[in-house]
Amino acid sequence: MKVVTCIAPVNIAVIKYWGKSDEDLIIPINDSLSGTLSMDTMCAKTTIIASPELQENIFWLNGKEQSFDNKRLANCLQEVKQIADKSLPHLNWKLSIKSENNFPTAAGLASSAAGYACMVTALAKLYEIKGDVSYIARMGSGSACRSMYGGWVLWCKGSSSDGKDSIAKQIAPAAHWPEMRVIVLVVNDEKKKYSSTDAMKRSVQTSELLKHRANHVVPKMVKACIEAIKKKDFETFAEITMKESNSFHAICQDTYPPCVYLNDTSHTIIAAVHAYNEFKSANKVAYTFDAGPNAVLYLLESSVDEFISVINYVLPPMDNNGDYYKGLPVSPSQLS
Ligand code: PMV
Repeated sequence: MKVVTCIAPVNIAVIKYWGKSDEDLIIPINDSLSGTLSMDTMCAKTTIIASPELQENIFWLNGKEQSFDNKRLANCLQEVKQIADKSLPHLNWKLSIKSENNFPTAAGLASSAAGYACMVTALAKLYEIKGDVSYIARMGSGSACRSMYGGWVLWCKGSSSDGKDSIAKQIAPAAHWPEMRVIVLVVNDEKKKYSSTDAMKRSVQTSELLKHRANHVVPKMVKACIEAIKKKDFETFAEITMKESNSFHAICQDTYPPCVYLNDTSHTIIAAVHAYNEFKSANKVAYTFDAGPNAVLYLLESSVDEFISVINYVLPPMDNNGDYYKGLPVSPSQLS
């Protein structure tokens, strides 16, 4: 019997991936850029057991048995087995995969990114594969490829039709910008209204704006944001991050029928960030929203205490059935 356990953290995109050129292989229409949170924050944990005694493959997610008949899981497993050493005795043993997230799943908090990054890392370890396997994690959930590395990570869309060059690479380790913090404001931890897979497909089919974003807006933003990270220029980094989030949600609005992810609480947070930055006469906090109403704030350590008081004033922590910011996770995370 072989047992492998891995932990992988969530990554938060500052330049978002939205739209695929290949649905099966999950090849994106634009490059994307993110920060990976530290291991002690929002993480997925996966244990894989390979045993000759197992009669069939089993997969458990957050304590519930799932079907193993899942195309993305099958694609990852097939690819990992294809590059593994064929003489490994356990290559054909059945698997028991158990995965858990320590935060809400499928609520627009990048759970699938951490989940697939974790599972592919565990599979690679199980089958003794060395080298980059981010392109395999990508086949599980696109953004998962970025959680394969710590710090600041670029996912290059690549140009080959087999997706082998659609990979993630670290552009700077977390230690490069040790003052950087992330605050996640959980506005709603329920499952998101539309899966990102369905929504991005609809955007590709119906949004003219998306073509402009992918071809003209994102390439410039990626370049400028990498430069800002390298120079530790928070002012520019924050401006790009906020503009990019707004551009992404404009695409969601331009999708037909529209995908509305932000709610009133999200807009209150956006207004609070802009008011605070204006009061400070500089960008001290940046917001970004994925496919859900939950806000992720990037800010430097020196702004954390003050901005937490602002948020607690504007949106007093309360729990009224999930549609209000709950106040619980207001503790800053570091990048790993
Ligand atoms: O990897 P997916 O299919 O969960 O899509 C993620 C899309 C966004 O979270 C909205 C953006 C991103 O780049 O993480």
